Amino acid sequence: MCGIVGYIGTNAAAPVILEGLSKLEYRGYDSAGMAVYDGNQIQIKKSVGRLKVLEELTHGGATMPGVAGIGHTRWATHGAPSDVNAHPHYNAQETIAVVHNGIIENYLPLKDKLISKGYTFTSDTDTEVLAHLIDYYYKRTCKDGTEGNPLVAITKVMHRVQGSYALGILFADHPDQIFAVRKDSPLIVGQNEEGCFIASDVPALLKYTRTVYFIENQEVVRLRADHMHFYTVDEEEITKEPVTIEWDTDAAEKGGYEHFMLKEMYEQPKTVTDTLLPRLKNGDIVIEELCMTQEEICAIQKIFIVACGSAYHAGMTGKYVIEGIARIPVEVDLASEFRYRNPILEKGTMVIVISQSGETADTLAALREAQQRGHKVLGIVNVVGSSIAREADNVMYTWAGPEIAVATTKAYSAQLIALYLLAMKFGKVRGTIEQTQFQEMVEDLRRLPGQIEMLLANKNRIQRFANRYVGAKDVFFIGRGIDHAISMEGSLKLKEISYIHSEAYAAGELKHGTISLIETGTLVAAVATQNMLFQKILSNMIEVKARGAFVLAVTTQGNTEIEKAADYVIYIPDTNPYFTNSLAIIPLQLFGYYVAVGKGCDVDKPRNLAKSVTVE
Ligand code: M6R
Repeated sequence: MCGIVGYIGTNAAAPVILEGLSKLEYRGYDSAGMAVYDGNQIQIKKSVGRLKVLEELTHGGATMPGVAGIGHTRWATHGAPSDVNAHPHYNAQETIAVVHNGIIENYLPLKDKLISKGYTFTSDTDTEVLAHLIDYYYKRTCKDGTEGNPLVAITKVMHRVQGSYALGILFADHPDQIFAVRKDSPLIVGQNEEGCFIASDVPALLKYTRTVYFIENQEVVRLRADHMHFYTVDEEEITKEPVTIEWDTDAAEKGGYEHFMLKEMYEQPKTVTDTLLPRLKNGDIVIEELCMTQEEICAIQKIFIVACGSAYHAGMTGKYVIEGIARIPVEVDLASEFRYRNPILEKGTMVIVISQSGETADTLAALREAQQRGHKVLGIVNVVGSSIAREADNVMYTWAGPEIAVATTKAYSAQLIALYLLAMKFGKVRGTIEQTQFQEMVEDLRRLPGQIEMLLANKNRIQRFANRYVGAKDVFFIGRGIDHAISMEGSLKLKEISYIHSEAYAAGELKHGTISLIETGTLVAAVATQNMLFQKILSNMIEVKARGAFVLAVTTQGNTEIEKAADYVIYIPDTNPYFTNSLAIIPLQLFGYYVAVGKGCDVDKPRNLAKSVTVE
């Protein structure tokens, strides 16, 4: 949460910073600010509200001249969104400015200490402590009126603070340099002929360079206009290898779509293809990144899938698919629960964590917990070089490219594919599926991108249906088995972007309480894609209809009984029953999207949310 950027070079810094922040706004968007050294002093402009407020305030950066600066887009943790709590934060003399992504856990004792030394605070943030603490150590390095040593001051602070941080720091005494450091919050730096850049994530740099350096925990970077130096927390200089980012520059642009979410939904056929095809070789599934021998695959006794939000929902689908195909017991855990519940991880347990961003704090902590208990962890991750990708023992990338909309769509679809591939690989190696069945499933997988395209082409019909529900108070999603997993994701899509209360229930659970919530006209979306469960879900549909519900069915062609029972039907094409979630999710995503659009919601940046949840 929160995005930071920085630039030092030959061009005006403020427009570069604004441009970078515009690509990071998905990380937080309750306030924004920047600090630029104008030749005499550090100027700060910041404001509560979206980035466009800052753009207007600075006339697109024109009122903030200077070639060195740092910027921030905020998702509030300490202190409500407000002008004073917005970053950057200054020291008292306004000679040091700091932007921060993360949380300083011991900020209160540090604040007390600084107050006892005469420091005064103007904000409620943990970040202001950093500005004053850097000031404190910096002044101790100033001998007889000489300029201080920023590197020494910064590393001293790193030894004192606990928590997570990616920082951009500007010193008025050293205007030819900016500094960046990290611990447990993402940070990259890059360079081109016109300067050096810092950013929380790749999209902010794509316009300027594709060659980046991933900064590791407890490393410091000193950036000048034409070069960068890397240091350890003990001030030893180190060398780092650059990484080339393959994403094209359009990847982080809307490309004519009204919202990133719509664009990303339309990218799903490609995302599925890119995650699938490189792993289908000569009629087999080859997952080199798995790094497991056949014996190791046969020795798996149990799988834990750990994730948050939509990635957790993908994991729920994974449970049904892996258990069904490979006959391995699977437990799916919310990362925030896993890390504190002392899970039983016996010998032979495989741990899989799933994350689009690769930065989700709880998922990262769960990964570390599993590793501490002596288990190797497979990460299913989208963002290359992210913390989870780097810390997992093995990484299976979902090749979805940058996902900007807060509500995930294409990364979720890619996660499903990764899980299907694992299930089929394990099933084949363990002998739980026949070769002919395996080949048929491969063919079904190959058909998915085209089928997703067909479903997307049906968007106008779903939009018309969605328009009827912009005023809905509650919506329920029901399904059984694998259809319950997709109901959970359909429900989250609707509620997170439209703010309409919605719940997903295993359809058989309705009678145990929830059915009392059904009123005349309540929309119940019933997902019915599993032949062997049709009769069961049919009964549930009839039960809610009898209590006044309007029933939308998402089902496969030719289900006359479901058709009769439902008030409105959306069909998905035929596929293997294990893969139906990849198709059923498309109309549900479109439904959530069009309800939110109809309500006039800010689809890409829903209130109170941020794309990467890097705090607990
Ligand atoms: O980056 P991650 O996949 O680890 O993120 C997990 C969740 O925060 C994420 O899926 C969230 O639930 C989205 N808002 C869902 O659209």
